Amino acid sequence: MAVAISDMSAKLDPIVEKYRGKQGVAIPLLADVQNEVGYVAQDALKYVGVELGIPAAELFGVATFYAMFRFQPQGKHVVRLCRGTACHVQGSARIAEQLERTLGVKDGETTEDLMFTIAHVACLGCCSLAPVMMVDSSVHGRLTPEKAIEVLDELRKEGVSC
Ligand code: FES
Repeated sequence: MAVAISDMSAKLDPIVEKYRGKQGVAIPLLADVQNEVGYVAQDALKYVGVELGIPAAELFGVATFYAMFRFQPQGKHVVRLCRGTACHVQGSARIAEQLERTLGVKDGETTEDLMFTIAHVACLGCCSLAPVMMVDSSVHGRLTPEKAIEVLDELRKEGVSC
């Protein structure tokens, strides 16, 4: 998903000014780009690279070294579905299948409307509530496939009314 040049300059020019003339700024620069754009977009790296005289390939190389940087857009809501042992025993695979069927995305992917990113994770630390998923900072336990979809439907409704 490409970002228009005009949108990009409006978002990135303040970042460029913040780091202009400074050395050793790759990591905070990348973090600011990710915060502003939502991920480390190639076009954004080219833009700030040209403005600051840093090769985009160098910035990209630094970004690939650190797990905190994303190279794909992230959804408005991040759905972390626990695939730990307790949740697996309680049926997390059926929930994963339902999420995949309903949203059309797999682990690590983001829906086309940028509403949800799905991530399968190890134990979320609340096994007594298995199976569990965490949506942003909210934990939803004792899930069924149907309940999981209801949670996401509610978030969609909230998104529409904003
Ligand atoms: S295994 Fe899922 S919360 Fe622990």
